[in-house]
Amino acid sequence: MTRHNSAIVSAPSDTILNMMREAGVGVIAEIEQMIDKKGSDLYGSEAVTQRQHALQCAALAEAENAPASLIAAALLHDIGHLLEKDFEEALKNDEDRFHENLGEAYLKTHFGPEVTEPVRMHVDAKRYLCATDPDYFAKLSPASVHSLRIQGGPMDQAEADAFIAQPYARDAVRLRIWDDTGKDPEMQTEPVDHYMAYVSQCVKD
Ligand SMILES: [Fe+2]
Repeated sequence: MTRHNSAIVSAPSDTILNMMREAGVGVIAEIEQMIDKKGSDLYGSEAVTQRQHALQCAALAEAENAPASLIAAALLHDIGHLLEKDFEEALKNDEDRFHENLGEAYLKTHFGPEVTEPVRMHVDAKRYLCATDPDYFAKLSPASVHSLRIQGGPMDQAEADAFIAQPYARDAVRLRIWDDTGKDPEMQTEPVDHYMAYVSQCVKD
């Protein structure tokens, strides 16, 4: 992980973003700064940090030879949590903050739907899998079962059929499986820069 400016990194996150925009810092550096600044937060009540979780999801995608866009989506799928100032507060209050929509809104300025759609759909993919895979629910972590309830619970059959018919829905389902698996405090991955190379490949002109 490269620190581009140690003075910026020590500032509050909203100030960081404003300073970088004013300085014309590109999206890649902006994302790296966010992961650097907020990535040490725990991933909700899981035993890994946001950074570990993102890296593990990207590593699992890479291990399955997913395309660069889907490895990038795996790395960035929870960027909405990094953008939220009060993620922990939302968890405490049992609120659904629609972090997938926040992440998609941020990313779509710079990335195409092959990156942003799996990000947008990764929560609904959990609701889809609960409806269609009898073994899936049993494998969810307690925190994920809890969030499922506040995210609307399993889809009914009509919702599931409509969901999977959407473009990129199957990519979102793949991402979801990595999301559920990438919570291992012992798992070793490459550093952030390794996976950011995939992200760089996907930036729109
Ligand atoms: Fe996640």
